[in-house]
Amino acid sequence: MAFKFAVVNQKGGVGKTTTAVNVAACLAVAGEDVLLIDVDPQANATTGIGLDKSRIETTVYDAILGGRPLEEAIVPSAIPHLDVVPSTLDLAGADIELISLISRESRLKSALSSVEERYRWIIMDCAPALGLLTINVLTAARYVLIPIQCEYYALEGISQLLKTVELVRRELNPSLEIARVVLTMFDYRTKLSQDVVREVRDHFGELVSPTVVPRNVRLSEAPSHGLPIVLYDARSKGAESYRRLAAEVIRFGQERSG
Ligand SMILES: Nc1ncnc2c1ncn2[C@@H]1O[C@H](COP(=O)(O)OP(=O)(O)O)[C@@H](O)[C@H]1O
Ligand SMILES: [Mg+2]
Repeated sequence: MAFKFAVVNQKGGVGKTTTAVNVAACLAVAGEDVLLIDVDPQANATTGIGLDKSRIETTVYDAILGGRPLEEAIVPSAIPHLDVVPSTLDLAGADIELISLISRESRLKSALSSVEERYRWIIMDCAPALGLLTINVLTAARYVLIPIQCEYYALEGISQLLKTVELVRRELNPSLEIARVVLTMFDYRTKLSQDVVREVRDHFGELVSPTVVPRNVRLSEAPSHGLPIVLYDARSKGAESYRRLAAEVIRFGQERSG
């Protein structure tokens, strides 16, 4: 059975896509079979993993709204063991288009059921919103990964996010569980970063990953080369931290499968 992760935070720019792409790539490099699903109309995960947007034919939109099998949208990445379901700007209307459809919250879950057996890990990157697309991801997922940026107002909006997770758990997906909170863009030189780490640890306790992702310029350069950090600069601090986070995710999976 696949371990299905939603990478969620309705704030933009907190490191969701960077985390989804790089955890997925590190898992694949470790030999695990991974499907990365881009569920953000901005399609940053799609381009960040090296897919050429102009050559994409079938996307997550077709699976969620077009009634096409998800299988048709799966494309291999340049990394062995890593497949991708791309997104495009088409998805921008999905939150509205979904409203009038039957089973509007569980369309991605249904679409996934026919392919999930092939993968050990399914990593879903969310848009910065808590609309129906993100609800679809939370309904399809088993585990939630919340990236939090080490910045002012780090915890702003978090209670709304937790309420949404709780609502989905109660109404749609009883096995949904917050797996980890990951602190991103940590700057060891600033007191602010240290304060945020403390504040988030006070709030989430054990759920906070011991791996804190530092602010690292190589991480911000990698997407423009269409490469995950482990291939762009394997020796960077960013690569080191995402390898560690992926190892932690693997241990988490081992614990859960007994
Ligand atoms: N640890 C980091 N160090 C430096 N830049 C980062 C780091 N994580 C993300 N970034 C950059 O910050 C921006 C926002 O990150 P992104 O992962 O796209 O956030 P989100 O998906 O939550 O909107 C991107 O330009 C990304 O390259
Ligand atoms: Mg993103």
